[in-house]
Amino acid sequence: MSPRTLTLDDTLYAYVNDIGGREPEIGRKLREKTQSMPMAGMQIAPDQGNALAMLVELIGARRAIEVGTFTGYSALRTALALPADGELVCCDVSDEWTAIGRPFWEEAGVAGKIDLRIAPAVETLDGLIANGWTGTVDFMFIDADKSNYDAYYERALVLVRTGGLIAVDNVLWSGAVIDDSDQSADTKAIRALNKKIHSDDRVTMALLPIGDGLTLARKR
Ligand SMILES: C[S@@+](CC[C@H](N)C(=O)[O-])C[C@H]1O[C@@H](n2cnc3c(N)ncnc32)[C@H](O)[C@@H]1O
Repeated sequence: MSPRTLTLDDTLYAYVNDIGGREPEIGRKLREKTQSMPMAGMQIAPDQGNALAMLVELIGARRAIEVGTFTGYSALRTALALPADGELVCCDVSDEWTAIGRPFWEEAGVAGKIDLRIAPAVETLDGLIANGWTGTVDFMFIDADKSNYDAYYERALVLVRTGGLIAVDNVLWSGAVIDDSDQSADTKAIRALNKKIHSDDRVTMALLPIGDGLTLARKR
């Protein structure tokens, strides 16, 4: 058996990002712009961006949804991986944060693929379901408020087509999921969803220890 997933020190992690993927220049620029912000830690890391882009390409996604856009880095990486006629609905409640991403989406030539909806994501997703999107979405990335994770997952299972992919971020929550003394609402919500997906016959699943933990759930 090969060793369990390595703990990466800073040097090895830098190597992964230098050699292990091809982050587009525009992605690096948006990441660097975001790094000066107090909430910069919410942004996915470049290695995770590489993985998302690969998954989107791999399943030949055309229609995608992102729940939690922040300054638009994961949206940029997803939109760049979609075909020219692809579409990405981005759900967020912050005009201020998402406005930072827009010029980068423009510069990357993907703004036309991105439909940003500023509203609580549950409302946006319910609206899409009401408008006939059931079973039409190829890829959905969940990366917003943790207390609604189960609500997002259930709606993802309605929206995503059979064989489509749901990716859920922060499922390790910096290790808090195994800390019994942490009974915060966010940690409990993530723990509960992890347990649910583990035994959910509606999907094939794998938790990847990348970033803060990324669960992939393929709808059966
Ligand atoms: C972790 S950040 C997303 C990071 C982003 N995916 C990236 O890689 O840059 C979470 C985002 O969820 C948004 N959010 C929080 N509650 C929300 C809600 N109820 N509906 C939609 N978005 C929400 C926040 O405004 C924030 O931008």
